[in-house]
Amino acid sequence: MIIEPTIQGVVARSAHPYGCEQSVLQQIDYVKKASPIKTDAKRVLILGASSGFGLAARIALAFGGPQADTIGVSFERGPSEKGTGSAGWYNNHYFKQHAESEGRIAINITGDAFSPDVRLQVIEAIETYFEGEVDLIIYSLATGVRPDYSSDDPKQWRSVIKPIGQSVEGAIVSLETDEWQPQTLEPASEQEAADTIKVMGGEDWESWIDTLINAESIAQGCQTIAFSYVGSELTHPIYLDGTLGQAKIDLHQTSHALNLKLANFDGHAYATVCKALVTKASVFIPAFTPYILALYKVMKKKGTHEGCIEQMHRLFTEQLFSPTGTHVDGERLVRIDDRELDPQVQKEVAALIEQMNADNFQQLGDYSGYKQEFLQLNGFGFPHVDYGQDVDFAQFSTESEVA
Ligand code: NAI
Repeated sequence: MIIEPTIQGVVARSAHPYGCEQSVLQQIDYVKKASPIKTDAKRVLILGASSGFGLAARIALAFGGPQADTIGVSFERGPSEKGTGSAGWYNNHYFKQHAESEGRIAINITGDAFSPDVRLQVIEAIETYFEGEVDLIIYSLATGVRPDYSSDDPKQWRSVIKPIGQSVEGAIVSLETDEWQPQTLEPASEQEAADTIKVMGGEDWESWIDTLINAESIAQGCQTIAFSYVGSELTHPIYLDGTLGQAKIDLHQTSHALNLKLANFDGHAYATVCKALVTKASVFIPAFTPYILALYKVMKKKGTHEGCIEQMHRLFTEQLFSPTGTHVDGERLVRIDDRELDPQVQKEVAALIEQMNADNFQQLGDYSGYKQEFLQLNGFGFPHVDYGQDVDFAQFSTESEVA
């Protein structure tokens, strides 16, 4: 089968396996050449391992110094008669192949991370492959829905990305038609805000750590991190002051509760604030696109732009496992969004956004970089991949790879 990129709005409906391999290989290459990460964390569990920050963290720890063994949980689709499957499926496949070829253990568990069943599979995998204990747990889920497994009633919470208390004007760019689409976002209801905290707040992270503590799967010195975003006053109305921001504040509070629980194991928990990046999750954030287009333009011009792998490498070498200990701010947050929040960067971004509109966003913002990154997330747009070649899907397993 010849695979073409198929985009609907801001959602990719196809993925190219060989491009996904290139993406994994480029990240492996980056961390192998960069300064080594120094940590004793050799047995790592990543929840949300198949793309974005979770995948980059997995690659950094497996190939960037610690040579960590990893268990990765994700929710991805394999190829079927319905379609090519999702990019994360191939990222998992190739991560495992390359990690195993260098002697690492790499277990992929595909399923709903909110479910009790996946918790059981993870505990079993920790028993089988990690001698019963885990040193580091990275919580990197990004999702719009969380099923409630506590009752037989098949209820689901849904997260929304809306402002709170006021409407917000903005725009989204359709990656399908390259059109700027103005948007007015109405404020969330109280129920929507509460449901977003259920999906993207700290409750499930805490439940995972409780489950692992109860299963006696936590190693001495075990740490856990979860990813957050704060942004600047340019994004606060839609992000920090909106529904997602409330969920992230809940996550920050959870990090303090988990830090107390892990103190019993000489361990720690931190929320880690990352920079804004194009990922499968972030292109969904309404009214956020003009900011990312301007931010990419400014940070690339200044030479301070980072992708997921550069962010994760800097997190592990300079912040979390730095020779002088973990660096946190006054709210006990680990920050790797410092370059984004540089006042000069923000000033220039604000000036660009002020002028940006439907006619000039491709020139003023870094739209070509934005789109290229989106295509590459799905395995397209890599110069060394022959996209005219036939792909035989038989080589890709269609089952969860937990052994
Ligand atoms: P992503 O969409 O690239 O990755 C999300 C991961 O979660 C994937 O591995 C996916 O398979 C997994 N996942 C989703 N639902 C699942 C489920 N029910 N069960 C198992 N796995 C599931 O997202 P990204 O952008 O890397 O986000 C990760 C975290 O980083 C999120 O908390 C996000 O808010 C945060 N963040 C993202 C920023 C950005 O600009 N992309 C900036 C700062 C923080």
